[in-house]
Amino acid sequence: MELESSSFQGQPVNPLIVQLGLQGERVRFSQSGRHALGEILKALSLRDGVLLVPDFYCHASMMEVFGSRRLKSIHYPVNSDLTPDSGAILKHLAEPKLDIKAILLVSFFGIVRPKQAALDITRAGFQLPIILDSVQDLNGAIHYRETASWAPWQFFSLAKFLPLPNGGFALGPGIESGGVAKYENEATLLSVTRMAIRGLAQQIRERGGESEAMDSLYVKLCESDLDVDPDRGASDLSIQLASLIDLPKMFEHRQANFEYLRSKLQAAEITHIPSEFPSRGPLVLPIRVSSGSRNDLKTELYKNKILAPIHWPQGQVALDGLGENTRRLNQEILSLPIDQRYGRDDMNLIAQVIENFLAHP
Ligand SMILES: Cc1ncc(COP(=O)(O)O)c(C=O)c1O
Repeated sequence: MELESSSFQGQPVNPLIVQLGLQGERVRFSQSGRHALGEILKALSLRDGVLLVPDFYCHASMMEVFGSRRLKSIHYPVNSDLTPDSGAILKHLAEPKLDIKAILLVSFFGIVRPKQAALDITRAGFQLPIILDSVQDLNGAIHYRETASWAPWQFFSLAKFLPLPNGGFALGPGIESGGVAKYENEATLLSVTRMAIRGLAQQIRERGGESEAMDSLYVKLCESDLDVDPDRGASDLSIQLASLIDLPKMFEHRQANFEYLRSKLQAAEITHIPSEFPSRGPLVLPIRVSSGSRNDLKTELYKNKILAPIHWPQGQVALDGLGENTRRLNQEILSLPIDQRYGRDDMNLIAQVIENFLAHP
């Protein structure tokens, strides 16, 4: 099929907005999740100050966005169920010298809803903007009206859930709708090549090899990406592709895999991240494995062609500032794939590999 790349530009309705039920909302498309946060910071005119962010976070990915608005991040700790430590947030907020401009809450893995912390902040009388990072909870967009009352600004990443070259979007008051752009071939190629190089480097490392050459190529490609206009939107190609996918069905499939695998692992007495809220098609199934054996289990899964990522690999500098819960999570958490490419047999295989591993560590 030939896709006319700008076939819906200029039309009143963007097909993805219809799929997500976001007609009438202010939706700004961007190149990725982090750029969508940039759009929110722009809409709020936030710069030169402090943003409160959880200590369990992908700080390295977000630094360029914080930096571009000259915002410093100060970390608050998370509890062992990944909900924010409200007490610590309120303590920071009571410190006027800190010049805190906004608070970032995160829907981790699409299974945590940090609503209580948002309510605690507003009940304590603080009027600061609350921004919800929903990069790991694409389905949250469909439920935006439900959550906007406590987190009016939210941002999402299409490419975390769908095989697309780019795409994020932001929702919230003051956001200027639009942002879909014809994507230059060169930029698309660059972004796809970068992803491939990063994936290769990771595979080499996981096999015990040296990935230095790949790593430096990756850094070079990132540097050349800086020349590309940072304000460009999501490509209309990505929006078209995403809108062709039955998203509710995809979420249902993820949810079914998630529940099935979780119930199978219950028998193996794996520690799950507790969640007060039912998930709705999450990113992955995060589990906790005692710190000594987490990396060995990851390797064992990999030998069986199951790629279980660790959220998040962090450098020593980032590790130094972590609270006790996050330090342990960082050593113990492992994300199991449950996405739409997989079915029951795949879930059974993951469960079996884990059970065998636990039986013969
Ligand atoms: C919670 C969270 N926020 C933000 C990001 C950055 O999203 P993107 O890579 O689309 O910019 C990620 C990426 O993994 C993430 O997991």
